[in-house]
Amino acid sequence: MIGTTISSGNRFRLVAGVVLTLLLLSVVVTACGSSGSGTGEGGTPVGDSDRGRAAFISKACSMCHRVEGVGQAVQDVSGAEKAPDLTHIASVPLIAGTLERTDENMRAWLSDPQAVKPGTLMPKVSMTEDMMNNIIAFLSTLK
Ligand code: HEC
Repeated sequence: MIGTTISSGNRFRLVAGVVLTLLLLSVVVTACGSSGSGTGEGGTPVGDSDRGRAAFISKACSMCHRVEGVGQAVQDVSGAEKAPDLTHIASVPLIAGTLERTDENMRAWLSDPQAVKPGTLMPKVSMTEDMMNNIIAFLSTLK
């Protein structure tokens, strides 16, 4: 019988080992989950593109940018007349003619357009990390 052959000291070490392993595992999982990356393993977006589409409208992106099927941009704010149509943004090679179009660069662009391209008319739109991931996921569906 195993239970009867393990002394109480050994049993303590066994339990401590299991607890430590579980702790380490949860640390690794948490670290991976909070990497802030727009893509998960295999390049699949971590954001939800449907919620990104809703955020694209609620965060006023659609005031300036037209996306086919998301309604006509109002285009009555300053800078709107220069805002590119984003219907096929997932197929263009460069963001704002400046940065290679990757999810990480899209994050950099949306976080601070002025830092990427000084003088650009694209405003910085503040949003939560979740919304950012969702909008990036939505933009990556616009092939
Ligand atoms: C006030 C109008 C305005 C708003 C609001 C706005 N943008 Fe822009 N956006 C622009 C302009 C102008 C450009 C062109 C920037 C340049 O090339 O200098 C641009 C460029 C972009 C580009 C690069 C397009 C390309 O063809 O390379 C993306 C992507 C983008 N915007 C996404 C967004 C998203 C997402 C939002 C909402 C969070 C948003 N924009 C809100 C005006 C706007």
